[in-house]
Amino acid sequence: MNELPDDQKAIGIFDSGIGGLTVVAEIFRALPYEKVIYFGDIAHLPYGSKSRNAIRKFSLQIVRFLLRFPIKMIVVACNTASADAIDLLQDTTDLPTIGVVQPGAIAGVKSSKNGRIGVIGTTGAIDSGAYQRAIRDRRPDVEIFARDCPLFVPLVEEGWLDHDVTYQIAERYLYDLKINGIDSLILGCTHYPLLKTVIGKVMGPGVSLVDSATETAKEVADTLDELDMATSLPIPPSHRYYVSDFSPYFKRIGELCLGRPLHHVIRVDLDQPDNIFDDFDHVSNIIN
Ligand code: DGL
Repeated sequence: MNELPDDQKAIGIFDSGIGGLTVVAEIFRALPYEKVIYFGDIAHLPYGSKSRNAIRKFSLQIVRFLLRFPIKMIVVACNTASADAIDLLQDTTDLPTIGVVQPGAIAGVKSSKNGRIGVIGTTGAIDSGAYQRAIRDRRPDVEIFARDCPLFVPLVEEGWLDHDVTYQIAERYLYDLKINGIDSLILGCTHYPLLKTVIGKVMGPGVSLVDSATETAKEVADTLDELDMATSLPIPPSHRYYVSDFSPYFKRIGELCLGRPLHHVIRVDLDQPDNIFDDFDHVSNIIN
């Protein structure tokens, strides 16, 4: 079988579920002709409250699945998986493997003038200390204020992006960061870009919000250029989306994250990836 040239291969992207589609949306904006193969591990969602060992196991299984396709790069769109498993994944494959933590941390450091940087994420991502280490590696003298905000993910999934309750919870979570005078806040979770309005209002105009998704898309574009792997075909590609389970809110939230309609979503059992897949378009009327 003839192998595809590298530039024509897809970018393999995964997340614990559908929040990673915020990263995909930024990649589409930056690289409209790159083909994406996405995997959302809805069966194991949420990653943010699971153990490091479990996250490493799931991430490895997903990367092995993605490697069945002609891909040229792996993007770990999930902050928790990036925090817990990026080293393992980089050791598993020769493909360039990019997580969201490094690009987000670098941009957070760049955007801070006063050296007081905040980072928010899931409990797993914050407890892992990955963002804190990545920030210190760049600039050891900064003060870091980290806070897990576990209720933000369900609020986004409920669609309460601008709800009174969301403001109240954000006020509570972000209080310490605010009184400590940070001027840069890293949104270290796939779902948080959708809460930018609330977080921005609570933190006030003096705080720049750093979106890991946007920074990761830039890093993906730069890496493809450097490795001479960017597609040379200016043709709109057809993307593929795989999930380990369907959920009732999948289409609604997925489309919110992606900013466009979601089609061709296929369910696959990672323990038996050769088995028949269900096509989401056939079952969507049942679960929506
Ligand atoms: N995708 C996860 C992250 O960015 C958030 C949702 C979850 O906890 O699985 O950390």
